[in-house]
Amino acid sequence: MTLRTTTRDAAETHALGQRLGALLRPGDVVVLDGDLGTGKTVMAKGIAVALGVTDPVVSPTFTVVREYDAPTPFVHVDVYRLDHLQELHDLGFDDLVGGDAVTVVEWGERVSAVLPSDRLRVLLEPGADDDERVVSVDAAGTTWGDRRDALGAALGPAPGPAPGPASGAAGGG
Ligand SMILES: Nc1ncnc2c1ncn2[C@@H]1O[C@H](COP(=O)(O)OP(=O)(O)O)[C@@H](O)[C@H]1O
Ligand SMILES: [Mg+2]
Repeated sequence: MTLRTTTRDAAETHALGQRLGALLRPGDVVVLDGDLGTGKTVMAKGIAVALGVTDPVVSPTFTVVREYDAPTPFVHVDVYRLDHLQELHDLGFDDLVGGDAVTVVEWGERVSAVLPSDRLRVLLEPGADDDERVVSVDAAGTTWGDRRDALGAALGPAPGPAPGPASGAAGGG
């Protein structure tokens, strides 16, 4: 089941990250996918706020992995520049994922082989104008089973036809 919403600017994506972050539990893995500049790091910063991270969150593009102390520790990963999966192992990725921490992996589906199958997948895509993003969220695995309603609420009501005078169904197919 894929949930979808749109954000109109970076602040809305950050706020959405905070709402998603509020649902996260220690051990959760979140994958953020989407092209460069779609807002993966913006969303990761929102998630970090929800976890109680107070240090400034800096994009891990060059370090690959950054850890932040917080009530729920935050591990922020960006595999964009990664050449080999072995580098992740060398950085101690296996010990960081799960446990007490929430792990957010930008470009994460590229390394899906080393990620747990239980994960929240978020895809950010360009929208109708420069500052709009279409955000699709997919929860895979059993640990998300009891959080699906909350996830739906975090993404807001599904966009539907604008309320107004009934004018008959638009199109049949
Ligand atoms: N709706 C939006 N959501 C997120 N970022 C947006 C949005 N509209 C504009 N932006 C801008 O897009 C850029 C996203 O940057 P960043 O989060 O670093 O992207 P990524 O990590 O996906 O490469 C920022 O400069 C941000 O201000
Ligand atoms: Mg980024």
